[in-house]
Amino acid sequence: MTDAHNHQSPPRFLIWGQGGWVAGHLETLLQHQGKDVHSTAVRMEDQAEVRKVLDEIKPTHVINCAGKTGRPNVDWCEDHKLDTIRANVIGTLILADECEKRGVHITVMATGCIYASKYNNDRTQVASPPFTETDTANFDGSFYSYTKSCVEDVLKNYPNTLILRLRMPVSDDLHGRNFVTKITRYAKVVNVPNSNSILHDLMPVVVALAEHNEVGVVNFTNPGAISHNEVLALYKQIIDPSYTWQNFTLEEQAKVIKADRSNCELDASKLMGLVKRYQAEGVEVEVPEIHEAYRRCFERMKEGMQMREGAQA
Ligand SMILES: NC(=O)c1ccc[n+]([C@@H]2O[C@H](COP(=O)([O-])OP(=O)(O)OC[C@H]3O[C@@H](n4cnc5c(N)ncnc54)[C@H](OP(=O)(O)O)[C@@H]3O)[C@@H](O)[C@H]2O)c1
Repeated sequence: MTDAHNHQSPPRFLIWGQGGWVAGHLETLLQHQGKDVHSTAVRMEDQAEVRKVLDEIKPTHVINCAGKTGRPNVDWCEDHKLDTIRANVIGTLILADECEKRGVHITVMATGCIYASKYNNDRTQVASPPFTETDTANFDGSFYSYTKSCVEDVLKNYPNTLILRLRMPVSDDLHGRNFVTKITRYAKVVNVPNSNSILHDLMPVVVALAEHNEVGVVNFTNPGAISHNEVLALYKQIIDPSYTWQNFTLEEQAKVIKADRSNCELDASKLMGLVKRYQAEGVEVEVPEIHEAYRRCFERMKEGMQMREGAQA
C-alpha cells in the first residue's frame, strides 16, 4: 500500500450515506474522537450534486457507507435491479471518480459476501482456505453480491480508493440491522461458520486506515469464523437465558428466500498486519479473534441494558 495523498491540514471527513446504519456508527465515533466530520445523503448517481457537495465541503477523506442493501433484506435487490445498479455500481463509481479528480481519499464499504467457502458434510467446519483479497469472487447467487463484486473489480484500479470488505456486521445493541438481531428473530436459522465484523472493534480501524491513506482491498472482519449456533449459544448465555432457537438446513432455507446467501471465511491477516503496525505507532485499535470479540460484544450489550434498566428504575 502507498500513501495516496499528503494533506497538510487535519483531515476533514465526509460520510456518504447519512441516515444509514454503518454511517451512523462512523459519524458518532468520529464526533467522539473530536474529528472534523460532515455527512451527506446526496444520491451518488447524481453527478452534478456529488460535485457540488465535494466542492462545498472540501473533504480530505470521503467514507462511502451508501448503497442499496435491501429492506427487509437483500431479496429486495432481486426485484429492484436498476435501483441497485444505480446506487451500488454507477453511483459508487461516480463518487470514487469525482474524489480521484480532486485528490480526495475515499474508503468504500464493500462486502465479503462475494465468496462461498467449502464446508464439511454437516457444515460445522470450513473445509477450504479462507479467501484472501486477491482471490477471484466465486459467489454471485444474489444480485446484491453481484453488483458489489463487479464494482470492486473496477474500483480497485483507482489509486485513491480503499475497499473494506465487511461481513455480517454486529453492533453492541439489538438494532434491526445487527446480524445477531436478524438471526434471533428468524423462526429457523441455518448453522454455518462465517466471518463476521464486530463494529465496535472495526470502526476505529476505518478511521486509522483512512488517516494513513491506505488503498486497495482489505478483508474487514475479525479473524476466524463462527457458526450461527455458537453466536446464539453465547447470546443465550450472556443476554437472554430464556432464548431458544431451531435450526434448518441450507436446502430448507433456500425454499424461503429469493436470493442465495453467501457463507464464507475471509483471511483477515492483511488487516491484522495493519492493526499491529498502528498499535506500534500508539493508535488505539484492537481486533480480537471472532469468538472473543463476540463475548466482549455481548458483555458490552449486557452492560448497556443494565445501565438503561438502572436509569429507568
Ligand atoms: N449491513 C450489512 O449487513 C452489510 C454487510 C456488508 C457490507 N455492507 C455495506 O456497508 C454499507 C452500509 O450498509 P448499512 O448496513 O449501513 O446500510 P443501510 O443502513 O441501508 O444504509 C445505506 C444508506 O445508503 C443510502 N443510499 C442508498 N442508495 C443511495 C444512493 N444511490 N446514493 C446515496 N445514498 C444511498 C440509503 O438511503 P436510502 O435508504 O434513502 O436509499 C441509506 O441511508 C453498504 O454499502 C453495504 O453494502 C453492509
